Amino acid sequence: MKDVRESKDFHLGVPPQNEAFFLKGSNSLDWGMKNRLARIFEPRSGKTVMLAIDHGYFQGPTTGLERVDVTIPPLLPYADTLMLTRGVLRSMIPPTFGRGIVLRATGGPSILKELSNEHIAVAIEDAIRLNVSALAVQVFIGGEYETQSVGNLTRLVDQGNSCGIPTLAVTAVGRDMVREARYMRLACRICAELGATYVKTYYVPEDFETVTASCPVPVVIAGGKKLPELEALRMAHSAIQQGALGVDMGRNIFQAEAPVLMIQAVRKVVHEAETPEHAFEFYQSMKAEAAMV
Ligand code: 5RP
Repeated sequence: MKDVRESKDFHLGVPPQNEAFFLKGSNSLDWGMKNRLARIFEPRSGKTVMLAIDHGYFQGPTTGLERVDVTIPPLLPYADTLMLTRGVLRSMIPPTFGRGIVLRATGGPSILKELSNEHIAVAIEDAIRLNVSALAVQVFIGGEYETQSVGNLTRLVDQGNSCGIPTLAVTAVGRDMVREARYMRLACRICAELGATYVKTYYVPEDFETVTASCPVPVVIAGGKKLPELEALRMAHSAIQQGALGVDMGRNIFQAEAPVLMIQAVRKVVHEAETPEHAFEFYQSMKAEAAMV
């Protein structure tokens, strides 16, 4: 019999590829989980610009999201990931969107009621049908329904793990909580300990690096209420410098004067480590150019 080595190349001198996965705390995850995370986080920079448009699930037609089908499609080419409800996904987002979808998977109370009283609002089969990259669950540490919301997290982690779908824990800060690093450390760490694949929290100006350092999985920051554009870029930049692996920004993008330019400016800060001042210069000059046309 002919030796197979004559016609085949087994690259015997090349050691097998065994690279660690690029995301913090995610190396032991299964292939499907990693593949979904790589649709959320840009593998080259290891970071993400998530566009959050799920506000309607508890507050109805939020300013800037009255007509998602009109205002959001121009932003899609610049979003690494879209965070939204299944209702808006099915009714208003073109299925040709090729990046990550993070599905809002809890809900229940409106702004008229106690917000922490949430339940799981999506069956895992429907999440699979929608081909989502992660499930997002609100966790109310210290809130009235803390245990219930933690129960939502752990059930979604179990369901997600069973089919390779990551879970994003969103740390919701109740009205009575102080927005400081001590609280964020507590909330983020609890979410990670209980199995969240990554965590979303608020940036705090003091000691934010202790929040990211003590959370064993990736942390992304929420944008929060609308700020002047330069301030929002400064916040994103500081968070990234202090260990956040991205932003999940909503109002500071879609309520900006020029949303399509703002999301591009945010990308510069997150993916290219540009200074907020440089990114703002880009934003201002492109806005001025557009006004002249
Ligand atoms: C609600 C959320 C929202 O997605 C998020 O807060 C919205 O983003 P932004 O605050 O940047 O408008 O998770 O808790």
